[in-house]
Amino acid sequence: MQIAERAAELGWYHTLELPDGVVTPGMFDLRGAVGHYHLPDDMTGMRALEVGTWDGFWAFEMERRGATVVAIDLDDERALDWPPRRRPQTFPEGPRGAGFALASELYGSAVERVVCSVYDATPEKLGGQFDLVFCGSVLIHLRDQLLALERIAGLVKPGGTFISAEEYDPWLSRLPVALSRYHADRDAAVVFWMPSVRTWKAMLWTAGFDTVVERERFKLQATGDFSVRHVVLHATKHG
Ligand SMILES: C[S@@+](CC[C@H](N)C(=O)[O-])C[C@H]1O[C@@H](n2cnc3c(N)ncnc32)[C@H](O)[C@@H]1O
Repeated sequence: MQIAERAAELGWYHTLELPDGVVTPGMFDLRGAVGHYHLPDDMTGMRALEVGTWDGFWAFEMERRGATVVAIDLDDERALDWPPRRRPQTFPEGPRGAGFALASELYGSAVERVVCSVYDATPEKLGGQFDLVFCGSVLIHLRDQLLALERIAGLVKPGGTFISAEEYDPWLSRLPVALSRYHADRDAAVVFWMPSVRTWKAMLWTAGFDTVVERERFKLQATGDFSVRHVVLHATKHG
């Protein structure tokens, strides 16, 4: 079967450039947004982890920059932190990793995809700590953002870097106190808590990072008619 036909059989979260000029119709086309995240240009020799990879855009990008990459995600949508009213009762469209698997095969990628919740992600489970951990648009959907951050802090080597890119509440971000808005009071909710920028920074510190630097705020444009405010934070643990 041709690449275009194989890609057309799947739903896509990420726009990915596959061989033969095939471009997947992702919900998010991150190609023009990569600069906002401030990944190191050269990741040669680095061991990197992506948390919540979906179709793998960021994992493949880090591999392209030279890193050895592990990517974690959940395959069964019922295992995600849905508010109970939204939680799928049946196993929806089959396992989540089909897009990642196709792209990985076509790229000849060595990214190791591990089915593992961030809540269970430990150095023991993932073969040790990492020089860089990347997590984009995942924490915002979690019920226990601090537990996830504590796990991530445990996965970063001393002196290593955590890159976080998450939505934030713009109104609370104007206030001089750390606040988070409760969002799961509506039927369509896929977010429990929407922290301010100050709150995200404080949470990263609470979880174990010593230095937290805001690199950028930008609007991530979806291919549909909406955009999502993001703040990019870089955090490090002292050695
Ligand atoms: C909104 S997508 C973001 C995808 C990608 N990180 C990006 O920035 O484009 C959220 C991803 O996090 C994953 N995810 C949600 N809960 C998770 C958990 N507890 N552990 C690991 N991954 C999770 C989802 O399956 C999905 O792939």
